[in-house]
Amino acid sequence: MKFFIDTANLDEIREAYDLGVLDGVTTNPSLMAKEGISGHDKVMAHYKAICDIVDDNVSAEVIATDFEGMMKEGRELAKIDDKIVVKIPMIKDGVKAIKAFTEEGIRTNCTLVFSAGQALLAAKAGSSYVSPFIGRLDDIGADGLELIEQIVQIYDNYGFATEVLAASVRHTTHLLQCAEIGADVVTCPLKVITGLLKHPLTDAGLAQFLADHAKANG
Ligand code: E4P
Repeated sequence: MKFFIDTANLDEIREAYDLGVLDGVTTNPSLMAKEGISGHDKVMAHYKAICDIVDDNVSAEVIATDFEGMMKEGRELAKIDDKIVVKIPMIKDGVKAIKAFTEEGIRTNCTLVFSAGQALLAAKAGSSYVSPFIGRLDDIGADGLELIEQIVQIYDNYGFATEVLAASVRHTTHLLQCAEIGADVVTCPLKVITGLLKHPLTDAGLAQFLADHAKANG
């Protein structure tokens, strides 16, 4: 299972990378805005800075919503670095753009996916990744994890190469359930990844070992 970090914050990306378990980064326009990154040149430079930290898989989202606009923006984003994956929204022109980018050899991540039907379309268009949003479905009383299960099953049935990238992951239980279901990738905030470290018995056991060592060694 790949771990992506869901942020545009360079310090958090560095911290996650230094842990040695990071496979990529996902950003979106809201996360870029949260870091105060605005204006064409600054946005491009920020994506480059992210690419310089990690080994691969930096999702950068297009703002255009028409086919020509998405193609223009996506090609420009892809030129920043080979690590860029162009993030495209699940809309009609988005599906066309994913197909066109796939033919050009540019990797894509189809975002804002909330149904199995949308995931099927993304896979048929050849998207490298599909991003179903678990947390946002849970927020409206639907079952985000059930959607992950459905998509994994459908992709397995037909051997689609598209990787299931579970997004909008809010806590470690989401992450672990995605791992049980067999999602290829999970993207989440740093605290969800570091949350995996925590167990009270680990802390208590370590404290005891260190106390016993201190007693024996003075
Ligand atoms: C990642 O690709 C998505 O944009 C992100 O996971 C959305 O998460 P949110 O629902 O917490 O904003």
